[in-house]
Amino acid sequence: MKKVIERSMIVPNMHLLEIEAPEIATKVRPGQFVIVIPVEEGERIPLSIADYDTEKGTISIVFMEVGASTSALACLKAGDEVATCVGPLGNETTIPSSENVLLVGGCYGIGSLYPVAKELKKKGNRVSTLLEARSSYLIYWQNRFIPLSERIYTITRDGSLGTKGHISRLPDVINSMPEKPDRIIVNGCTYLMAHTSEITKELGIPVVVNLNPIMIDGTGMCGVCRVTVSGQTKFACVDGPEFDGHNIDWKEFLARRKAYMTEEALFFRKSDARFAHKEGKCAWHE
Ligand SMILES: Cc1cc2nc3c(=O)[nH]c(=O)nc-3n(C[C@H](O)[C@H](O)[C@H](O)COP(=O)(O)OP(=O)(O)OC[C@H]3O[C@@H](n4cnc5c(N)ncnc54)[C@H](O)[C@@H]3O)c2cc1C
Ligand code: FES
Repeated sequence: MKKVIERSMIVPNMHLLEIEAPEIATKVRPGQFVIVIPVEEGERIPLSIADYDTEKGTISIVFMEVGASTSALACLKAGDEVATCVGPLGNETTIPSSENVLLVGGCYGIGSLYPVAKELKKKGNRVSTLLEARSSYLIYWQNRFIPLSERIYTITRDGSLGTKGHISRLPDVINSMPEKPDRIIVNGCTYLMAHTSEITKELGIPVVVNLNPIMIDGTGMCGVCRVTVSGQTKFACVDGPEFDGHNIDWKEFLARRKAYMTEEALFFRKSDARFAHKEGKCAWHE
């Protein structure tokens, strides 16, 4: 059991969860994740660590409410408990030194990029940050990135902030930069990572993605998170989650990620998760 210090909605459908986990907070490195079981008898879900405080002994997660497990997490409040939280898992993000790095973050990836940005800055890199969302009201933590970034760019689909459009406008952002990035690190939804990889391949810029396949154990035992990289099978939990975006078989990855979509949707309906959420209870299986 892990005590919840804070759970709040930071922008619509996106939540911040701070939990007491001193043994994780002292070991975690940027890019790593935890496996959380929100409630007893619940399922295991992987979530990136978006921040940590070694003095307080806490870790923070930014999560998007998409189904039963994240809905259960979304109804937690300070003082409640998360059934299980195991980590840190996965490899840390490779941090270069003295490079010009462009971070691209969307959705919960904005949160998981924050520790990466801090470490990049610490190692003397020149960091620029591009935040992507449907609209300006879905962009969060800009203030956290400002002191770490030489430049902040935004792309919003409705044009309410920054460049209007979606990630296909990335070449315009890159062309407006004083120097071409040496590498791009992208965290967020599969669409954002796959398209950034496609675009940067054409532009000849190395790209690193933080892959988000379905996971079960997170320790290389079940094989559920397998992904094809440069024609070889890799397990995202132990070989990643960081990979060279240019070498991923994105078509296969997208298909595998959607494999249980119908079952997940049916379970969510049947489980009365929304009702439990409304009642402020987290036990959807009751
Ligand atoms: C290394 C890693 C880090 C992640 N970090 C974050 C994060 O910081 N914040 C965040 O909001 N999400 C993160 N995810 C995705 C998150 O695990 C899923 O959104 C979550 O499992 C959905 O569970 P659910 O029951 O609420 O939704 P479901 O109803 O189970 O599924 C909704 C959607 O999530 C996908 N999904 C379901 N189970 C998993 C799973 N075990 N792993 C990956 N995707 C799944 C489904 O394909 C579906 O598209 C991460 C995934 C990985 C692999
Ligand atoms: S989650 Fe089981 S092998 Fe990666």
